[in-house]
Amino acid sequence: MADEPNAQRAKKLYIETVGCQMNVLDSELVVARLRDDGYELTDDIDQADAILYNTCSVRQHAEDKIYSALGRIKNLKREKPDLAIGVLGCMAQKDQGAILKRAPHVDVVIGPGQLGRVPELLARAKAEEKPQLAVSLARTAGGRDRVTASFESYDADREPTVRPSKFQAFLRVMMGCDKFCTYCIVPSVRGPEQSRSPDAIVAEARLLALQGVKEITLVGQTVNSYKYKTPDGRTTRLSDLLARLHEIEGVVRIKFITSFPNDMTDDLLQAVRDLPKVSRYIHVPAQSGCDEVLKRMKRLYTVALYDDMLARIRETIPGASVSSDFIVGFCGETDESFEKTARLLERSRFKNSFVFKYSPRAGTKADGLFADDVPEDAKRRRNHILLDLQAAISLEDNRGFVGREVDVLVEGLSQSTTRKPGWDGPDQLVGRTACDRIVVFPGPAGLAGETARVRIDQASAVTLFGGLAQEAAERPA
Ligand code: SAH
Ligand code: SF4
Ligand code: F3S
Repeated sequence: MADEPNAQRAKKLYIETVGCQMNVLDSELVVARLRDDGYELTDDIDQADAILYNTCSVRQHAEDKIYSALGRIKNLKREKPDLAIGVLGCMAQKDQGAILKRAPHVDVVIGPGQLGRVPELLARAKAEEKPQLAVSLARTAGGRDRVTASFESYDADREPTVRPSKFQAFLRVMMGCDKFCTYCIVPSVRGPEQSRSPDAIVAEARLLALQGVKEITLVGQTVNSYKYKTPDGRTTRLSDLLARLHEIEGVVRIKFITSFPNDMTDDLLQAVRDLPKVSRYIHVPAQSGCDEVLKRMKRLYTVALYDDMLARIRETIPGASVSSDFIVGFCGETDESFEKTARLLERSRFKNSFVFKYSPRAGTKADGLFADDVPEDAKRRRNHILLDLQAAISLEDNRGFVGREVDVLVEGLSQSTTRKPGWDGPDQLVGRTACDRIVVFPGPAGLAGETARVRIDQASAVTLFGGLAQEAAERPA
């Protein structure tokens, strides 16, 4: 019984995840494993028997956040010596033993290629009363096969209850990255590029569909570089994979992120055009609009190639939306080079753009080769300029939807509207169009997971607002 002092109490797990979709997916898999081990999730850090941080190293800010969180829970560990604390993911791979020096109260440090070992290492840390470290090999530590093997694929367990929405799931198609953009830490912390076997991916997608998932997002650092050679010499490309996944009953939408400009082949664009379940949305970061900067970033394309690729997307896929990432204040970025980036953003008419201030990362090529010579206030100014330009474009393009009807895959209640303090209006639902635009409209919570036809009557830079088309038609004029 619950209140008997010796009753077996489920161990409580608190997990915090930062970084990209890879980490969101990894956390789901880690939780699935730990549930089998008798843990249940808690939102209350004070109740936790284990606190795990799944970390990101892409920018300094992401790391600072984790080190201060670790600082904050130092006292908790003093009060509860049995509390287990873990640092998982990219920062674990990057900083390794240095984490234990800086935060000696940490019990396990586990890189993204070793996550299958979380339960074992937590148990071992407790039994041996000493911290455990499990990371993969450095990119230069040996031959490619050995390094690749040290980043283990870990995709077996899925755990529906920890997904942000029960109708949506990520599905890994590739691990690692081989592009080595000079600013980027990802190839060192996530290891060599590896495509998963199409059979394994399709089997996992079927499992997700059985769990009630309607929307699957394929994830990879350069997802459109996906290529898998079977022993009979046949190659499966991302377009082939999309066609296979399209057959799965129950799945109504398929997305893929993130694409690399050079690998945007025509067969892929045609697949997006011809397969109705595939979202007409492509996230393909430009990073900069200046050839000299792109060259220093080693992005492997020119502005002309990017423009041409975008033109091919627009020609092939009617109504496609495209989004981008930009880095401002990269080494040697002058006012003139930044101007070129602003012009690229203006003419590209992205649905949205993610803008980041350059953050030097130890161990990357740029950090060794170039000075971080753009002052912080110039980075901040350029950041704002791009965000403002993008907001104006997004607003203008979104206004083009007013008066139109769109099909929305409903995700559930809109937290930002329905959960706002003081809100006493009807329930507001949120979902996305086939071109990935966010739509908010009043409707019953039971529509979650369904596709609804919505008439748009208002637009902001990030959201379209409207009402169910059926109801609008039935309302007296
Ligand atoms: N694989 C994806 C992106 C991975 S990281 C791709 O190639 O597009 C996500 C974004 O973080 C990048 O697109 C880039 O814009 C940004 N980023 C990566 N390293 C950075 C750094 N050192 N400083 C600032 N932003 C960075
Ligand atoms: Fe980083 Fe470039 Fe690889 Fe993207 S493609 S993960 S930016 S190295
Ligand atoms: Fe960050 Fe690792 Fe993703 S560094 S962006 S969590 S691959």
